[in-house]
Amino acid sequence: MGTSRMFRIFVVLGSVFMILLIIIYWDDVGASHLYLHTPVSPGPRIPPPPPPRQQPHTSRTPSFLSDIDAFVNQFLEPGTGEPTDPAPADSGNQSEKAEERYIPRREWKIHLSPVAAELRERQEQRRRLLQEMCANDSVVFPGKNRSFDDIPNKELDHLIVDDRHGIIYCYVPKVACSNWKRLMIVLSESLLRDGVPQRDPLSIPKDLVHNSSMHFTFNKFWKRYGKFAKHLMKVKLKKYTKFIFVRDPFVRLISAYRNKFELPNANFYLRFAQVMLRRYANQPTPPASVDEAFGMGIHPSFPNFLQYLLDPQTEKEMPFNEHWRQVYRLCHPCQIQYDFVGHLETAEEDAEHLLRQLKVDNVVEFPTSRRNFTASTLEADWFNTVPLETRKELYKLYEPDFRLFGYDKPDSILNE
Ligand SMILES: *[C@@H]1O[C@H](CO)[C@@H](O)[C@H](O)[C@H]1NC(C)=O
Ligand SMILES: *[C@@H]1O[C@H](CO)[C@@H](O)[C@H](O)[C@H]1NC(C)=O
Ligand SMILES: *[C@@H]1O[C@H](CO)[C@@H](O)[C@H](O)[C@H]1NC(C)=O
Ligand SMILES: *[C@@H]1O[C@H](CO)[C@@H](O)[C@H](O)[C@H]1NC(C)=O
Ligand SMILES: *[C@@H]1O[C@H](CO)[C@@H](O)[C@H](O)[C@H]1NC(C)=O
Repeated sequence: MGTSRMFRIFVVLGSVFMILLIIIYWDDVGASHLYLHTPVSPGPRIPPPPPPRQQPHTSRTPSFLSDIDAFVNQFLEPGTGEPTDPAPADSGNQSEKAEERYIPRREWKIHLSPVAAELRERQEQRRRLLQEMCANDSVVFPGKNRSFDDIPNKELDHLIVDDRHGIIYCYVPKVACSNWKRLMIVLSESLLRDGVPQRDPLSIPKDLVHNSSMHFTFNKFWKRYGKFAKHLMKVKLKKYTKFIFVRDPFVRLISAYRNKFELPNANFYLRFAQVMLRRYANQPTPPASVDEAFGMGIHPSFPNFLQYLLDPQTEKEMPFNEHWRQVYRLCHPCQIQYDFVGHLETAEEDAEHLLRQLKVDNVVEFPTSRRNFTASTLEADWFNTVPLETRKELYKLYEPDFRLFGYDKPDSILNE
């Protein structure tokens, strides 16, 4: 009697203990495995479905192992390792270190010299400026005060996630975004050729680069994770390294205009150029096709394009197209604390620094562009034919981008 009661209690306690163990284990390993291993739908170029690749162990290293990893790295990488930070007690630097430790490392490259102090200082300044501007009530723009939870799903479509390396990239069109998207495809190994991940960024064709099926973006989380989506996003935002590349806002607009309206582009002609011609260029019936229009030498002028941006009607019809939508609307810099802010004006240095910080410089190299970007020295020429009043209104429209990312107010353009 007594022993059978003891036995029953023992069995019950034992079961409870086992269940607890399972829960703890599941929470620790199962969940993080679920977070980290999320393959993007494969690209169109795979002939047969590739054999499932074994890689559960790359997703998560037990903490003692990653500590050993960090310890070993101190000796291997004097530059980016923790001990070179002269002020390690700082909270900003601490969170950076925590993130570095989290990223699973499979291989690494040995650097004999540290990242130049100038480059680290530059990043420090850009991050600090973002924080200051987000806290400064004199910088006002729609959506600034909302919380991350209040950002609608469809506005998160520019955040590309790479779970393999723990990287989040917010792409801004007209800021070398094709090349950074190529890099994200290589890193996340989402494009396979004959079952082997594509390694060379430049060999990825342009139409694939911009095909959204190649990228795992935040707005796809809802489909995959349902009500856990926002929670998962926040976990990833906290643990992953987030980066963004920006450029001078006016130069970005010139670049968008040159690329979409000075060159024949059927899609942009039908969706936007016809509207501009009708409304601002005295063309009640613009040519029906882009070929016809360019054959007759007709396309909207740069002032027409700016008029279109400033017309209240435009935003009423639909939100700005991503090629001219403000960066603060694409990337939510006051809700997402970017770890790295690159400028196109210093793209090569920044790319090298970033890849090194991400510890992927052994896997990929940033493709250097052979094209000439629109130089800001030519900016004044472009605005020659634009009325002063229009320039000032345009500045107001893009002022938050100027201030958030440290671009000087273009006085020479605004004060003539
Ligand atoms: C994007 O790729 C998918 C296949 O992965 C294809 O079905 C789709 O047509 C592509 N979309 C565009 C716009 O090319
Ligand atoms: C971080 O470390 C750098 C030196 O590496 C130091 O100059 C800076 O003040 C520290 N603080 C913050 C907030 O990053
Ligand atoms: C906010 O910005 C204004 C002007 O743009 C500046 O004068 C002021 O010092 C800033 N405030 C803070 C707290 O930095
Ligand atoms: C955001 O909040 C600040 C006060 O915290 C307020 O002064 C400002 O007007 C608000 N901005 C917007 C766009 O709601
Ligand atoms: C780029 O600019 C340089 C000088 O600024 C010029 O020599 C070169 O030909 C240009 N390249 C192209 C592709 O336009």
